[in-house]
Amino acid sequence: MAVRIAVLPGDGIGPEIVREAVKVLDVLNSHFGLDATWEEAAIGGAGYDAAGDPYPAATQQLAHASDAVLLGAVGGPKWEALDKPLRPEAGLLRIRADLGLFANYRPTKVHSQLLDASTLKPEVIDGVDILVVRELVSGIYFGQPRAIDMVNGERRGYNTMVYTESEIRRIGRTAFEAARLRSNRVCSVEKANVLEVSELWRKVMIELHQAEYSDVELSHMYVDNAAMQLIRNPRQFDVIVTGNLFGDILSDEASMLTGSIGMLPSASIGEKFAMYEPIHGSAPDIAGQDKANPLATILSVAMMLRFSLGRDDLAVKVEQAVEHTLDAGVRTGDLCFGGEKPVSCSAMGDAVCRALEALA
Ligand code: NAD
Ligand code: IPM
Ligand code: MN
Repeated sequence: MAVRIAVLPGDGIGPEIVREAVKVLDVLNSHFGLDATWEEAAIGGAGYDAAGDPYPAATQQLAHASDAVLLGAVGGPKWEALDKPLRPEAGLLRIRADLGLFANYRPTKVHSQLLDASTLKPEVIDGVDILVVRELVSGIYFGQPRAIDMVNGERRGYNTMVYTESEIRRIGRTAFEAARLRSNRVCSVEKANVLEVSELWRKVMIELHQAEYSDVELSHMYVDNAAMQLIRNPRQFDVIVTGNLFGDILSDEASMLTGSIGMLPSASIGEKFAMYEPIHGSAPDIAGQDKANPLATILSVAMMLRFSLGRDDLAVKVEQAVEHTLDAGVRTGDLCFGGEKPVSCSAMGDAVCRALEALA
């Protein structure tokens, strides 16, 4: 039976990068016997424009009826002045919460062909292979109370960073399980020296480790130090597990080890559903110019093949096709620091498709 994919291009560069990922799916269907069908729906600003809602009911229905969701990116200046619940970002947070996608895997792998594309020294980043496991449906993004109100005649804004122990345990389990399939090391990142929520996070991680995962090496690091260590000596990390906000920030930082945020895919996984999306945003500064790097989205398709479609064999092929494309020196502008000639987003997608066909 055909697998069904919900394709949600979103805003800005979203439609451009998703178009290239869909080309890859086309090649998998035509040359590798994948039996996938897909249907597009609107999310983010596109959802607001089409249906007055950044997570329209039709999109929700399609997501629920699909085997996996592929998302581009949301947001942009056009929608910034809207009320908060109508903004594109609210749509993204709603689909994550609605589908229960509590575990966000953000692998950060340095490709040897791109050692010179990073702003960091090659000897520091060579061989880096980190998995950031970010909690995605709780923490300060969703905590109550939150508001902007008036106190003593002045405006006050506040949010609440909150985790229950069961939320910490399930993301901890995700990280320990992932580590067992890698180098068996988990670094839990929080701010336990200041925040109660982090104090509990650390306690629960230690309890879980002792009870079920004592075979895995567990360390703890304050988030400020982690931000520094990621640049100082990134190879010390295997799996980093952290909360929603810290994971958002640290994964953007970690992306620069690879040369560009345009290289980092992600998988957001829950009990029933899964969504695949690049970690970057809608890049309004280059949107509509066919300049964006589609590799993060194409590599997100590889994660979908592996985690949702049971086709690890095809995930490997897509990853190999990306490697061969990089071997050939094909780079979008974000990867060109040394005066190389950049190719367009669509040319990068085409190059990956040709490399993939050659592996058939
Ligand atoms: P951004 O990730 O969109 O862009 C940051 C910088 O990285 C920009 O200079 C951009 O050109 C560059 N960049 C990002 N992706 C790229 C790619 N694939 N190829 C080449 N260059 C790329 O972050 P921002 O500028 O802070 O946010 C822009 C909008 O995107 C905002 O509305 C924000 O809320 C939204 N956003 C959405 C997501 C998402 O949908 N998951 C993630 C982050 C930001
Ligand atoms: C991401 C984005 C989102 C987040 C925003 C757009 C809500 O930055 O996917 O990393 O903060 O989770
Ligand atoms: Mn982010």
